[in-house]
Amino acid sequence: MFDLSVYKNRRAALHKKIPHGIVLLLGNQEAPANYPDNTYRYRQDSTFLYFFGHSLPGLAGILDLDAHRDYFFGNDVTMDDIIWMGPQPSIAELGAQVGVPRSYPLKQLNKMIGEAVAKGRKIHFLPPYRFDHYLWLEALTGIRAAAVQNYTSVELIKAVVALRASKEPCEIEELDKAAHVGYLMHTTAMKMCRPGVKEQLIAGALDGIASQYGSMVSFPTILTQHGETLHNHGHDHLLEKGHLMLTDAGAELTSSYCSDHTRTVPVSGKFTDRQKDIYNLVLAGHDHALELAKPGVTYQSVHLAVCKVLARGLKDLGLMKGDTDEAVAAGAHALFLPHGLGHMMGLDVHDMENLGQTYVGFDDEVRPSDQFGLSALRMGRRLQEGFVITDEPGCYFIPALIDKWKAARLHASFLNYDEIEKFKDFGGIRIEDDILITKDGSRFLGKERIPVTVKEIEAFMRNN
Ligand code: GLY
Ligand code: MN
Ligand code: MN
Repeated sequence: MFDLSVYKNRRAALHKKIPHGIVLLLGNQEAPANYPDNTYRYRQDSTFLYFFGHSLPGLAGILDLDAHRDYFFGNDVTMDDIIWMGPQPSIAELGAQVGVPRSYPLKQLNKMIGEAVAKGRKIHFLPPYRFDHYLWLEALTGIRAAAVQNYTSVELIKAVVALRASKEPCEIEELDKAAHVGYLMHTTAMKMCRPGVKEQLIAGALDGIASQYGSMVSFPTILTQHGETLHNHGHDHLLEKGHLMLTDAGAELTSSYCSDHTRTVPVSGKFTDRQKDIYNLVLAGHDHALELAKPGVTYQSVHLAVCKVLARGLKDLGLMKGDTDEAVAAGAHALFLPHGLGHMMGLDVHDMENLGQTYVGFDDEVRPSDQFGLSALRMGRRLQEGFVITDEPGCYFIPALIDKWKAARLHASFLNYDEIEKFKDFGGIRIEDDILITKDGSRFLGKERIPVTVKEIEAFMRNN
């Protein structure tokens, strides 16, 4: 946890952003896996964590915007709990640790919200994403669970996004630490990568590192020799010489700050010429994003510039043709790169995605697109100092997509289908690092860089 002043300042900033009503922030409960006492690893709601700091189940918080008062709610443990869990701090102690002197049992929360509803006061709450929260919101507000999504507060969503989007120095320190755990995970993957090794063996080792040095992985690890499937969570293959192993994995610290990196390496330890050609194109795009990313620039423009690097390179290799700018404007390159350049990252690996991507990654100026490929961009708006985003271009040869586009002769003036056909056994490449937007530019998070050039990767795999 950070110093209590951090949480007080954040809540004070939220008070300033919304003039009236009550902000209701629900903490997450335990989530049973297969019976009530056998739960998934506990994960606090990131917005609750941001304003109230505690990563424990059964908590809630209120900001009374009219009375300028904050409240902290939870039930003190019973002797039965102490027998099974050991001594626990009281709710009053937990509240005091985050600068909230007014703490009460949960039944008081029901009473306060009930009274506010009776008086017709506005209750600001965020879109629920856990089913128990739908029911909790129904019990508190009287709005039917099936309808609560219609009553979420856009004012609160926008205020939370505005605050959480710019990372404070104490958060950046955590994100740098999370990147270090990511470094350990990815270099371990490179060390273990050999023909004949099962993907699962390496993926399991990465899970272990994430929990040894932090809390857990920041999302289920993608580790596969079939990187052409973007979110391939299967780990069933024995790695084969000639294939590329794509590892997209990150750590979440006990503070819940995340990392998210991707590396693609040759199973044999040495890239073939064809793999090198495509890899260097993706890397050129990836490095170009870091050059362009700075305050005031839209990330959509960075995404499109990276697409052009890729399209130009694919043209040089004979896979694309025609005018590169026109090809990218038409979306022809999306056959190879059907996803966006990146997303915000912080307390969530896809930061604040639960609040709605259009509020997080877009604004009145930069709107989401419905063009295939560009529509998958999660972050398009102008960058600001303190933003943390991922830079994750890729190039994929997805046989089913190639077949579909080829049959329809889609973008045939920009795509050399006869050449593309020869790459249907290629797989996919993605390279991902996490970027901090600084005062006048950007930097990668983490003190050490995971090997990324062809030379660095081959040398690392040879020597480890
Ligand atoms: N977790 C997948 C990604 O966004 O990189
Ligand atoms: Mn990733
Ligand atoms: Mn990512």
